[in-house]
Amino acid sequence: MCNTMDVHAKKVVTLVYGCQMSERDAETLTVISSEQGYERSGNLEDADLIIINTCCVRESAENKILGKIGELKKIKEKNPRLKIAVSGCMVQQPGVLQHLQKKAPHVDIWTGTHNIHHFAEQLVKAQAGEKVAEIWAEPDARMELPLAEKGKIKANVNIMFGCDNYCTYCIVPHVRGRERSRRPEEIMEEIRDLVANGCREVTLLGQNVNSYGREFASGYDFADLLGEVDRIPGLYRVRFITSHPKDLSDKLVLTIAAGKHLCEHIHLPVQAGSNDVLKRMNRKYTREYYLDRVEFIRRVLPECSLTTDIIVGFPGETKADFEQTLDMVRQVHYSQAFTFMYSKRSGTPAAIMPTQIPLDVKKRRLQQLMGVQNAESLAWRQKMLGKTWEVLVEGPSKTNPERMTGRTRGNELIVFAAEESCVGSLVQVRALEAHSWTIFGELV
Ligand code: 5AD
Ligand code: SF4
Repeated sequence: MCNTMDVHAKKVVTLVYGCQMSERDAETLTVISSEQGYERSGNLEDADLIIINTCCVRESAENKILGKIGELKKIKEKNPRLKIAVSGCMVQQPGVLQHLQKKAPHVDIWTGTHNIHHFAEQLVKAQAGEKVAEIWAEPDARMELPLAEKGKIKANVNIMFGCDNYCTYCIVPHVRGRERSRRPEEIMEEIRDLVANGCREVTLLGQNVNSYGREFASGYDFADLLGEVDRIPGLYRVRFITSHPKDLSDKLVLTIAAGKHLCEHIHLPVQAGSNDVLKRMNRKYTREYYLDRVEFIRRVLPECSLTTDIIVGFPGETKADFEQTLDMVRQVHYSQAFTFMYSKRSGTPAAIMPTQIPLDVKKRRLQQLMGVQNAESLAWRQKMLGKTWEVLVEGPSKTNPERMTGRTRGNELIVFAAEESCVGSLVQVRALEAHSWTIFGELV
């Protein structure tokens, strides 16, 4: 008689929405599920577990996620062994769980941002047929030990969690809790371990890395940490996000200049160019202060790439305020900008500010801003042409599989012909042609 034992290896598909923190949390959840016997897969139809790590920073992200969760219902009807876990910021928002549960009864696990280390127990319960909903109001710092996938060339490393800035538009402090820094020894150990497993580039993650270590009595700060990470043998590159302009110190910029592996790229969200709007956003800096920081960076690091986040249509934003944002973009010469229409987030002060801006005005301003920035981005890339850049080779290009792709220290994507054996190494590439989002080049 033949043996009909089930040899089906359990499969997990992870879908991520939002920022690098969300990606990093999703990685931890995926590693936990692999420790529970799930293999990573990209095929939703055949999955035993689908994890959706969510974002709630804008309504558009939430709508997209709700649509996706809705689509999974059909897949679950065809495949009853499928378990669905929805985690992250959207679930963590105060008072939304009941509404989500009602909307999506086919979800098996609802879990927040503060208790992802409980995912293994949650999975066991869900496999036994239980519906799980676990959202902690407060994080447990002892439990914030991210788990990393091994063998990647590039890795994200949390150096701190939470945010204390309370920008008036932003939901993040409400779902990620108060700012707390990981101990430097713990971070160094994690990075050394990644390097031992083939990692060549790390990105240090925090909502505001410039306030890293504020709670340490020793005075040890982010620049000190960067200096130490720079000296880890075998690590080629160090990046970091995000820098709040109000806390960007001279020491940090000078540390980057003195470092060997510290990449000349600073993501410095400006959000708006008008002092009135910045004040109502509670950003705690003026446009003059921001421009002074940019000037210092340009003086110390002439080739540094600056990127930014900008919101248009913040409540009360006048035409003149918006013109100031356009002017800022023209003055700073960002290599890239992430541009957003203001989105009301319930529970934040801006949501109840009078003079909310009509959608059609927001749309028009966004288009105009994107037009100005696209020209800036292209000009930035065109200036790179003819020169040779250090590139960390990441693998075959998605759009051009017979070519390799990688990034310059300034984080520009560059596509070029090279042997597969170059993956994971630093090469020199001459920039030849600037396209909308990439540069084409040749190995030198
Ligand atoms: N509406 C639009 N954009 C927002 N961001 C944060 N909150 C909102 C909001 N309510 C943007 C900011 C931030 C980026 C991650 O998302 O620009 O820097
Ligand atoms: Fe949100 Fe401001 Fe904190 Fe960034 S610094 S996460 S925009 S509150």
